[in-house]
Amino acid sequence: GDSLYKAMRQRGRNFLGTALTLRNETAEYKIIKQDFNSITPENAQKWESTEPSRGNFTFADADRHVAFAKQNGLQIHCHNLVWHSQLPTWVSEGGFDNATLIQVMEDHIKALAGRYKGACTRWDVVNEALNEDGTYRESVWYTTIGEAYLPIAFKLAAKYDTHAKLFYNDYNLEYNNVKTAGAQRIVKLIKSYGVRIDGVGYQAHLSSEITPTSPGPAPNQTVLEQAFHATADEGVDVAYTEIDIRMNTPATPEKLEVQKQTYERVAAACLAVKRCVGMTVWGISDKYSWIPGVFPGEGAANIWDENYNKKPAYKGFLRGI
Ligand code: XIL
Repeated sequence: GDSLYKAMRQRGRNFLGTALTLRNETAEYKIIKQDFNSITPENAQKWESTEPSRGNFTFADADRHVAFAKQNGLQIHCHNLVWHSQLPTWVSEGGFDNATLIQVMEDHIKALAGRYKGACTRWDVVNEALNEDGTYRESVWYTTIGEAYLPIAFKLAAKYDTHAKLFYNDYNLEYNNVKTAGAQRIVKLIKSYGVRIDGVGYQAHLSSEITPTSPGPAPNQTVLEQAFHATADEGVDVAYTEIDIRMNTPATPEKLEVQKQTYERVAAACLAVKRCVGMTVWGISDKYSWIPGVFPGEGAANIWDENYNKKPAYKGFLRGI
């Protein structure tokens, strides 16, 4: 039968993944086997999950996700090392000086990248460093260390995992605007330090219609491709790393048709760009999507419905591949 990842491999691309939270849902595991060759741990590797207090590493949940991927022959898009969110207050409000915060960063990257060396196909080294206007987000990383925190993080990731492809990851890069230019600037910055960056992840938390919390429906294919080229032409890989395409709920047949076309367009944009190595969707079923919890009144963003039936979006996505 149909398989998203097999279609992707037939087109010479590397991966088709899903975000994963291990839970008691056998339907999910059947779908993964059929349609995906990569997983991104949805929360298990984040700082709050893995180092809740300084030097106290809690790897049980992350280890379970890594073991699941290994048992099923799946790639792992490891997520993530340095981010402002899901970051414990001992880091964000610790009042560390520059040298100490760099040490905190190194201890964390050493522990994570070191532990999962060989298991991670890719690492999101830095997540969401940019504001919508392309300036740097005023996170504890930026306000304490300055923009050098980006090349420092990538240098440390490369030091402790020589194997994984190292990615910068952010959202709303898909529109080819000032934020996309900010990502291009980050690629250049890291390279100017003589440090390795292998790719840029475009999260692709998109919508199929105007919603209160989106910059508008997903752009047309030309814009999507241009947005990829803004960083890919600097000599890095690109990927869609967290695709979901939300709408104002409830869904109607008409809205699901627009969503189907949007999924097709997004996939087609990746396939049209040589350096787009893969795509990951942010979860399987609408049942567990993060969207309704964070954007009330919006949802129905995934390609399987709450009962694990394929939505029209499945066929659209497959057609785009
Ligand atoms: C989300 C998860 O899906 C939720 O379960 C969690 O409560 C919050 O984080 N950008 C990212 C992801 O890089 O890590 C986020 O995942 C979604 C936005």
